[in-house]
Amino acid sequence: MAEAGVIKGGDAPIAVELTAGEAVWWCACGRSKNQPFCDGSHAGTGLEPKAFTPPKTRTYYLCTCKGTQKSPLCDGTHNRI
Ligand code: FES
Repeated sequence: MAEAGVIKGGDAPIAVELTAGEAVWWCACGRSKNQPFCDGSHAGTGLEPKAFTPPKTRTYYLCTCKGTQKSPLCDGTHNRI
């Protein structure tokens, strides 16, 4: 299990079909068992999930390495860590 706030590396983004205007909570701590979404496992870490409201209905690639600079979207950082 990844430690809170630690970039895990080596993980690929997860493709998810999201609906325009329907917010989701992206896991920022890496502990969620329901990646890439929050399952409440961040409790006590000092980290909080990030809300994301898709502007369009389509497939989004959400970061699982937690190193992206464009959270919650993958920016390719996982290929460099
Ligand atoms: S999975 Fe984190 S940047 Fe791609």
